[in-house]
Amino acid sequence: MQIHQRSRRGFLALAGGGGITAALVCTAGGRGRGGGELVKALPPAVFVRHGAHNAETRLESLPVGRLVTPNDHFYVRNHGPTPRLSRTDWRLEIRGDAVERPVTLTYEQLVALPTVTITRYLECAGNGRAYFSELLGVEVEGDPWRDGAYGVAAWTGVPLATLLELAGLRDSAAWVMPVGLDAEAYARPMPLAKAMTADTILAHRMNGEVLPMDHGFPARVVVPGWIGAASVKWVGALEVSAREPAVAANTEDYVMLGADWPRPPPVLTTLEIKSAVCLPWPAVLPAGRRTIHGLAWSPFGKIARVDVSLDGGRTFTRTARLVGDNLPVAGTWWQLELDAPPGDLTVTPRAVDEHGHTQPPLSQQRPNDKGYLFAAPVPHPIRFE
Ligand code: MTE
Repeated sequence: MQIHQRSRRGFLALAGGGGITAALVCTAGGRGRGGGELVKALPPAVFVRHGAHNAETRLESLPVGRLVTPNDHFYVRNHGPTPRLSRTDWRLEIRGDAVERPVTLTYEQLVALPTVTITRYLECAGNGRAYFSELLGVEVEGDPWRDGAYGVAAWTGVPLATLLELAGLRDSAAWVMPVGLDAEAYARPMPLAKAMTADTILAHRMNGEVLPMDHGFPARVVVPGWIGAASVKWVGALEVSAREPAVAANTEDYVMLGADWPRPPPVLTTLEIKSAVCLPWPAVLPAGRRTIHGLAWSPFGKIARVDVSLDGGRTFTRTARLVGDNLPVAGTWWQLELDAPPGDLTVTPRAVDEHGHTQPPLSQQRPNDKGYLFAAPVPHPIRFE
């Protein structure tokens, strides 16, 4: 696992010097005034807008071969406006019926704790939703994302395990729920074992910068390999409990609903292995010898291979060359040379990871009402002129 550890001078003083205050009473935790829109610039050349609060990265706008997504290109998925929180008012509470002693940290106390830096991707569970109707003819609810609700960052922060140990876990501790300070107090629980995994962190830096507002300033959870909805932004509390809390994000949203699915519905956790062509949809290119670029990623490890079909996904006769960094639970760039005569062609990548996972054929893609976890290979249309 690629985790870079860094010790902060302040940590021992803080841990030993009573700098962390035990709080028995919950505070409001620094809720900001909020706003009507996102904070970052959303140039149309970089983002496709989905409503007021969501922005999909145009993968064709990314710097080819550079795996880490620049912060100003990283997709945004919010349930409401980005709250404008201040680092002076912000507090993190670690509380719940399964901690020994509730703890409250200030921003300064959080950033003084030892950090790790992990390079991992985030992806929305609804990424690829547009293809349910376009490729399968199945209508689903929600914004029609293509492939751009995916981004990789080097996240710097404090392992959740470190934070939970500050409060002390009771034997009964089984669930950890980060709670957001956005207007709807978005929250989603995860089992204690996932929270204690070394690369599950409370991040306060993204690609070397202070966490941008839209991505969760001052602190967000990063839960690698799991649907983006698990990576709660603007975290004001970590609630530790013996029983699984029931919230919208594990009962109505981010669950598999529909005729093919049992009741109660399965709660989404791990993402799927995927790949994409990084070109406009549809693309128009000059005929001749061309290099097609794309990305591939897996929640389980590194990408081992990207096979490519030039006949709409019937046969995968070509193998792409992997380019640049290939990092577990992050992804890799790939490229394919082809000689293209004038006319229409589809390029369909299919990723295989180091553990042998691969993308399911379209015929095995199981629809669900909310269009989650589309994972089949996608034939990307290109007109060569
Ligand atoms: N956290 C809070 N507090 N509120 C939200 O609306 N959206 C979730 C998650 N964390 C959300 C949140 C969803 S659905 C996704 S996919 C990711 O944040 C998106 O993270 P990003 O906007 O940094 O790309």
